[in-house]
Amino acid sequence: MFCFGLLQTHASKMSASWISLTFLCTMVCMWTSVDCWSYYYSNKTMNWEQARDWCKTHYTDMVAIQNQEEIAYLNDWLPKKPTYYWIGIRKINDVWTWVGTNKPLTDEASNWAKDEPNNGKTTQTTGNNEDCVEMYIKRREQTGKWNDERCGKPKTALCYSAACKNDSCLYGDCVETINSHRCECYEGFYGEKCDQIVKCNKDEVTVPDKGSVNCTHRYGDFFYDSLCQYSCEEGYNLSMTRPLRCTASEAWSDQPPTCELVQCPGLSHPDRGSMTCSDPLGLSSFQSTCVFTCDEGYVRSGSSSDVLQCEATGNWNASQPSCNPVQCSSLTELENGFINCGDDANTKFTYENTCTFSCAPGYKLVGSETVTCMSSAEWSESMPHCEAITCQTPEKEDHLIVQCSGLESDLRPESTCSFSCEAGFELQGEQTIQCSGNGEWNEVAPTCKAITCQIPEKGDHLIIQCSGLESDLRPESTCSFSCEAGFELQGEQTIQCSGNGEWNEVAPTCKAISCPAPEISPRGVVSCTPSPSSPPSADTQYPLGTVCTFSCDEGHELQGDLSMECAHPGQWTSTSPTCTAVRCPLLEAPENGHINCSASESVYNSQCSFTCDQGYSLEGLERLTCDHHGNWTAEKPTCKEAEPPSEITAIASGVTVGGAVSLSGLSLAMWLLKRLRQKVSKFELNSNSDIEAPPQVYKNSTENLL
Ligand SMILES: *[C@@H]1O[C@H](CO)[C@@H](O)[C@H](O)[C@H]1NC(C)=O
Ligand SMILES: *[C@@H]1O[C@H](CO)[C@@H](O)[C@H](O)[C@H]1NC(C)=O
Repeated sequence: MFCFGLLQTHASKMSASWISLTFLCTMVCMWTSVDCWSYYYSNKTMNWEQARDWCKTHYTDMVAIQNQEEIAYLNDWLPKKPTYYWIGIRKINDVWTWVGTNKPLTDEASNWAKDEPNNGKTTQTTGNNEDCVEMYIKRREQTGKWNDERCGKPKTALCYSAACKNDSCLYGDCVETINSHRCECYEGFYGEKCDQIVKCNKDEVTVPDKGSVNCTHRYGDFFYDSLCQYSCEEGYNLSMTRPLRCTASEAWSDQPPTCELVQCPGLSHPDRGSMTCSDPLGLSSFQSTCVFTCDEGYVRSGSSSDVLQCEATGNWNASQPSCNPVQCSSLTELENGFINCGDDANTKFTYENTCTFSCAPGYKLVGSETVTCMSSAEWSESMPHCEAITCQTPEKEDHLIVQCSGLESDLRPESTCSFSCEAGFELQGEQTIQCSGNGEWNEVAPTCKAITCQIPEKGDHLIIQCSGLESDLRPESTCSFSCEAGFELQGEQTIQCSGNGEWNEVAPTCKAISCPAPEISPRGVVSCTPSPSSPPSADTQYPLGTVCTFSCDEGHELQGDLSMECAHPGQWTSTSPTCTAVRCPLLEAPENGHINCSASESVYNSQCSFTCDQGYSLEGLERLTCDHHGNWTAEKPTCKEAEPPSEITAIASGVTVGGAVSLSGLSLAMWLLKRLRQKVSKFELNSNSDIEAPPQVYKNSTENLL
């Protein structure tokens, strides 16, 4: 049996340490000391596995090297063995591991010999699975150091047995030392076996205003690790939330906390709105209430509530509202047109913004040109729309035939409509009209008017008789004409309205019926009733009913009718009479006498003188003159045997009135009688005109010898 003392270097630090100097070293351990950490080794060699089994069977386990002191101690104490000693380190999954604790070997704790571990690389048999560790003891070089070796090699087992028992330390850890152990007390405990507890001052645990405290004790009232948890009434927060703890230094971990009124984050007045708060406990604190309102045209947003209350959690029960402009429905598309709501995408459809509408070419806006977003979130006007610009179908007047380019229901600008009329009607207005860009026709549509002929002009004295109404003389209508009495028609008696609204002939006129100027024979004179006011000429016309009376110069005799009348149809009732010179009977020389006439023919005013032979005296007028009746102024004288003058001659001479004309009373009476007998019928015809208008007398001037 071998026992070795080990100076416990930590003894001075321990308040209650003890040192065991008992060592037991034997092949079969008969060790009796109970409070000693002891080493043992085998007499025989064995491989690593067998060595560990042997240690675990007889002791605690294979040796785990704690420090250099321990190494020095072992190197000093153990006998030299040629194969050295197995220790409790092994390569597991390529990591050097303490097999007792199953923890990897750290660099600090390593105590490898020079160039180790090498896994046998220095020998020819490299890769030798040198997975176990031996410790050199009493080697010439590198003594106390470690070397990796194949686990199957036979070496001496090096074991230990622990000194600590379950009840070695009450509130602390038992630490093995070489051949001994010590207690490392837990915090708050002291004493050799860690059975004493630290205590704190109970009076320091005060209760704050609006708060309460609840202590829990792990080891006893207000001993180490007692916890005093504070809490506050609703709406108050602890200035420190962690509990007060009784620490190992016999002091509480903290000062007792206070209860502080819960604060909510400050709220701000919203733009375009207002906020009214009431603060019963403190500004913007627990139970403060704020009411938000938005200006007209703005609505709450970013919050579910108009009224915010500060809750015990320090949060408002809803988020801070802001006032956003009312949003009207978005206007996206205008068929065949454009919407302009401004460029700012955020304000396009918001309160007070105005959108403007326009239409594509060929379309016109129907409805409002602009709309404004109102506070009610509605647009001020209903949406307009774009309508194709079309002209209205021309009205279908009676008898009008319309022919349009394109559908009548869709007459766009540039479209045209042409017109014609049914037969018998004519177009009044443009034949073709065109739809202009503003949807209006460039001209009014024409109408159809019945083709009619104008009423013939009512010339003087004209009597018109038409088939049908005078105001509606259609083609084929006829008008017939006649003249008042005394007039005759000049032109067609009947005219017809032709298809183009024109008469086939001009309307006739009425002309007064008249007779041509009467012929006046040489030595003739005419007198007409009534007669043209101006001096007549060869062209003068004499109205119907005119009566012309003729006479001849003295010494001439009328041949034909004394008068004539202008009668239908413009003809004199007779031809004009002629005047022939009066001739007296041819005188021969009286018996026993001679005759001497002034002219060879016994015309008016020619004279014949008579002389008697010697012895005879002329009985009667010596000279006879041919008067205008063709009578000699006296009986042809005779030549008698000379006798005194008679009474008859004296009487005849007595009635002779001076001048060229001398008629005896008897011969004048006889002429008148003869004249009356000849012309009585003619004078009776126009006795009236003789009275009313005294006849004016015209005569053929060239032949006027009076
Ligand atoms: C917040 O609290 C106020 C006051 O109690 C209440 O009127 C409101 O409705 C609450 N809001 C919400 C979102 O709960
Ligand atoms: C006839 O009368 C004229 C004139 O009176 C006269 O000159 C002439 O000699 C007369 N002749 C004869 C045959 O007497």
